[in-house]
Amino acid sequence: MNHKHRFTIVFFLIILAALVLTACGGSSTAQKPAAADVSGVAPHAQGITEDARGCIECHATETHGVVSDWDSSRHAAEGVSCLDCHETEAGSPMELKNIKGHENVTVPVSMLVPPSKCAECHEDEVAQFHASGHERAALQVESKDAMQTLMLVHEGRNHPTASNASQETGCMQCHGIRIQVDENGLPTPDTYPVSGIGNIYPNGEVGNCTVCHTRHKFTIEESRKPEACASCHLGPDHPDIEIYENSKHGQIYASEGDTWKWDSDAGDWEPGDYRAPTCATCHMSGIGDLPVTHNVSERLYWNAWAKRSAPRDSDDPMSPLTGHAEEGRAEMKQVCLECHSSTTVEGFFSSADKAIVLYNEAYYDPAKQMLDDLKEKGLLKENPWADEFQILYYHLWHHEGRRARQGALMGGPDWAHWHGFFELQQRLYRMQDIYNYRLETGKIEEP
Ligand code: HEC
Ligand code: HEC
Ligand code: HEC
Ligand code: HEC
Ligand code: HEC
Ligand code: HEC
Ligand code: HEC
Ligand code: HEC
Repeated sequence: MNHKHRFTIVFFLIILAALVLTACGGSSTAQKPAAADVSGVAPHAQGITEDARGCIECHATETHGVVSDWDSSRHAAEGVSCLDCHETEAGSPMELKNIKGHENVTVPVSMLVPPSKCAECHEDEVAQFHASGHERAALQVESKDAMQTLMLVHEGRNHPTASNASQETGCMQCHGIRIQVDENGLPTPDTYPVSGIGNIYPNGEVGNCTVCHTRHKFTIEESRKPEACASCHLGPDHPDIEIYENSKHGQIYASEGDTWKWDSDAGDWEPGDYRAPTCATCHMSGIGDLPVTHNVSERLYWNAWAKRSAPRDSDDPMSPLTGHAEEGRAEMKQVCLECHSSTTVEGFFSSADKAIVLYNEAYYDPAKQMLDDLKEKGLLKENPWADEFQILYYHLWHHEGRRARQGALMGGPDWAHWHGFFELQQRLYRMQDIYNYRLETGKIEEP
């Protein structure tokens, strides 16, 4: 390198250093995170109004995580702004008022974003959700006296201030609740935050679009993974994620799922992108000629959570039998047949359906008969949660009975057998002993 060149480089470096120093020295807010460069993060930002830019710039420091999630979302790339979701009608009970920081915000905004907002751009998904069993998740809990008594009296012990704790931290985080707002449009602490699937908004609307693709990224990838369902579909009474892990499909997902292609457009996500189905593949995704659906009841034959399973036959999402058995089974088989032969698929469902018949006729029916007899003879305790017979009956259908049925229907042998039918016969023998004792003595046994 000759002297002339060396001089040019040194000269450039000096200019550069001077520029950097000026920039830093001129900025008194160097410690504060930089405000979002809206034009950089959203290529379609031309569509984003001045008001919406205000939200992003201020919230980039106020709630950094929200803006950073939104920044990396498909919505940002498509120019869908904060206001597209958070703007509300003036005078709505959800309209935010007196928010510190919002002194110069002139557009009416809400914190709550009901599904009708999403429906402005995603009409089909919302309509399908409303037709599914997910729709009733909070409505049916609210309307069942026995459930309210379980939560508030038995679990909540009628506590003067904290009786609602079990509901607030448990049931409603999966099922949802009727969200109440205060005079400033803010949701109240005993009804929010809530991640339930069937939330009821102050305007009466039902549903939650953020549980499977969480805010503010709202990705299709997240919703396709079993983890999207697992936060609710687990545990002793509906161990769907555990059953999945126990299945061959779950084995393959666990061993290589991190290498699959998760972001294909809806309708184009096909075997090849993945080797084994996830919850979404079987219950929701498009595959082959079968279109995507947000109605999780559509591909079901049985009602496998009920006390006694029956084929589905209703268009009413509030009905325990929402769905249509024959059409549902045909669609589910279409899913399997994209990867298996009909011999495997028919053989699988033949055994699974046998498990439903066995549960219904050899376990549920005799248990129910004994319950009815004891009730007729006045040999049941008034408090079902302090009566061993009634507790066993509850476990038989709600825990072991669901595990046996769902284990059989989704290929989880440990759940069909050891956590299912094995436990079922143990429950039934004990119930028969108690039943015989009560009938022979005419008394309820002492502890
Ligand atoms: C000048 C700053 C600023 C601007 C502009 C602004 N916000 Fe806020 N926003 C805040 C602050 C501060 C809070 C309160 C945060 C807290 O309570 O932790 C807030 C709260 C919120 C909340 C939650 C309500 C609550 O109190 O918990 C939402 C939703 C919200 N803003 C949306 C928006 C939208 C949409 C816009 C654009 C129309 C916007 N904000 C514009 C500063 C701002
Ligand atoms: C695609 C729709 C959508 C967009 C776009 C959107 N939000 Fe939200 N936002 C939601 C939903 C849904 C919630 C949850 C509200 C509920 O429970 O009903 C929420 C909640 C919030 C909250 C409360 C978060 C918490 O955890 O306390 C803030 C603050 C907020 N949004 C600000 C923003 C800001 C700022 C932007 C723009 C950068 C934005 N939102 C863009 C849908 C959206
Ligand atoms: C103003 C229109 C608009 C609103 C309102 C809106 N979206 Fe979107 N959304 C879009 C556009 C545009 C896309 C990208 C193209 C597409 O997939 O349709 C998108 C894509 C999506 C995707 C797919 C993302 C991916 O990874 O491919 C999901 C999931 C989604 N939106 C959920 C929601 C939810 C949930 C709400 C309500 C909380 C909502 N959207 C509100 C316009 C909107
Ligand atoms: C936020 C909690 C939550 C998440 C996440 C969730 N579910 Fe559910 N799901 C529920 C609840 C609660 C019910 C019971 C609704 C009722 O009958 O009250 C349910 C019911 C169902 C049913 C039975 C519907 C019927 O008609 O009986 C299916 C099938 C289902 N979910 C599949 C899924 C799949 C697949 C996913 C993930 C892609 C998923 N769910 C994610 C809470 C959730
Ligand atoms: C971990 C999440 C979770 C919690 C907590 C939870 N549930 Fe559920 N619940 C579900 C799921 C998922 C189903 C659907 C099971 C199925 O389809 O097999 C369900 C089903 C039900 C059903 C039957 C569906 C119907 O339409 O009748 C009732 C009733 C119910 N739950 C009430 C409650 C009550 C009351 C509580 C609290 C005491 C509660 N659940 C706690 C997730 C939950
Ligand atoms: C039970 C989980 C679940 C819930 C709840 C849910 N989604 Fe989805 N969503 C999915 C899955 C899974 C996919 C991807 C389907 C596939 O594999 O193509 C998806 C895909 C989407 C897409 C992209 C599909 C397309 O056609 O581009 C949009 C948009 C969307 N959902 C919006 C919504 C809206 C709006 C709601 C509220 C009614 C909602 N979702 C509720 C699981 C869910
Ligand atoms: C290989 C496909 C497949 C996979 C993967 C799968 N399921 Fe299923 N699921 C089924 C079939 C088949 C049934 C029974 C349908 C019927 O009634 O014939 C079922 C039934 C259910 C039910 C019972 C609904 C009722 O009537 O109570 C729930 C809830 C459910 N699945 C949730 C899930 C969740 C959550 C996952 C992931 C953790 C999952 N499924 C994974 C195929 C699958
Ligand atoms: C995306 C492809 C795909 C779909 C869709 C699919 N499976 Fe599978 N399934 C597999 C693979 C791969 C295996 C592992 C085969 C092995 O064990 O070598 C498997 C294994 C099984 C097994 C274990 C026994 C065996 O043959 O290895 C059963 C049972 C099964 N699947 C049933 C079903 C049913 C029922 C459906 C529909 C509800 C279904 N599968 C949907 C790919 C799929």
